[in-house]
Amino acid sequence: MTTTRSALDWRAHAQRLAGQLVASGDIRTPRWRDAIAAVPRHLLVPTAYEQDHSGRWTPWSTVDDLDRVYSPETLITDIDPAGIAVSSSTKPDLMARMLELLDARPGHRVLEIGTGTGYNVGLLAHALGEENVFSVDIDPDLVDAARARLAVAGYHPTLVADDGAGGVPEHAPYDRIIATCSAPRVPWAWVEQLADEGVILADVKVAASAGNLVRLTRVDEDTLVGRFTTRWAGFMAMRHHHDIPTALTPIPTRGEGATYRTTDLDTPRVWEIPPLWFLINLWQGPVGFGYTLDSDTRQPTGALYTAADGSWCHTITESGRHTVAEGGPRRLWSTIEHAATRWRELDEPDWDRLGLTVSRAEQTVWIDHPDGPAWNLLAERR
Ligand SMILES: C[S@@+](CC[C@H](N)C(=O)[O-])C[C@H]1O[C@@H](n2cnc3c(N)ncnc32)[C@H](O)[C@@H]1O
Repeated sequence: MTTTRSALDWRAHAQRLAGQLVASGDIRTPRWRDAIAAVPRHLLVPTAYEQDHSGRWTPWSTVDDLDRVYSPETLITDIDPAGIAVSSSTKPDLMARMLELLDARPGHRVLEIGTGTGYNVGLLAHALGEENVFSVDIDPDLVDAARARLAVAGYHPTLVADDGAGGVPEHAPYDRIIATCSAPRVPWAWVEQLADEGVILADVKVAASAGNLVRLTRVDEDTLVGRFTTRWAGFMAMRHHHDIPTALTPIPTRGEGATYRTTDLDTPRVWEIPPLWFLINLWQGPVGFGYTLDSDTRQPTGALYTAADGSWCHTITESGRHTVAEGGPRRLWSTIEHAATRWRELDEPDWDRLGLTVSRAEQTVWIDHPDGPAWNLLAERR
């Protein structure tokens, strides 16, 4: 198939994607079906990158693979000098679910944090009218590229290059605020810029992979309350202008200073249970994680956890038995075991039992009810 022929075919591909998302239940409203069918994702994402096993990124031209660009796949679109992906076009099925959850309707003014490629802005502008759509990204080059490509597609929303943690006060208030990058807590500026009946949909993430989308509504001038969504989703973390590159915690090796023991915890890769992983990080402070691989087969042999204070633990699974090596100032695996026990005592809460209250004074994660057991997003409360 030639490039020209492919480019002509994009509408059929976009319509097929819209139909697929209706069939999967991700789209429930004609407004979003029409938007997915009408917005040219290949035009807003002309180039995407894929990573091979050695970590090398290779660009590909989306117009040459319309099946792929009009599919529920996240497309990586920007890589920083360290080889870390810093912008992407989020999977359209997740975008559709979020737009449904946001419940943005004609007449609503919407602010998006994290413009990226402008694809989601295009969906919003198509459904609500470009005059009602505002979006901010920290990277001015991304904003310029999105603005130019959206104009070619026929949309002229208001795009701003700035740190979205401050919202976009000059166009407030907004009926809906949607964040497509994660934040460790909800920036107060968003609350201030939200209309009375407003909704905020954001990924609140306290550490790597430790968070989820939460949908907040206003209960009074100074308080928003809402529940985490039942289906887990994760976004890239917000960056800030003066971020100091995070020093990678050196990977410890077995040996001096380490203690060894067995563990009865049957889930050595605790991050694979997202609500438990969220609570562990909320209760114990941020923990980094990763697989350890067999040097010959490259198959996972265990899991490694590290904390900023230099504490680490390494679980090794052999013949169904889990051994743990721990080192550094804290017994990190013991803190994980302790949190897992507490989670079991609370009857293993899944996301449907977890909620968030955001007030000027504090932000608390609660179980079952805002007045139930609750923990502060910054420090444990009770
Ligand atoms: C997953 S991408 C957004 C996808 C986008 N909505 C789309 O449809 O293509 C996350 C974006 O958040 C942006 N971002 C990161 N930190 C930010 C911040 N502090 N303020 C605004 N945007 C930020 C990144 O530059 C990146 O483009």
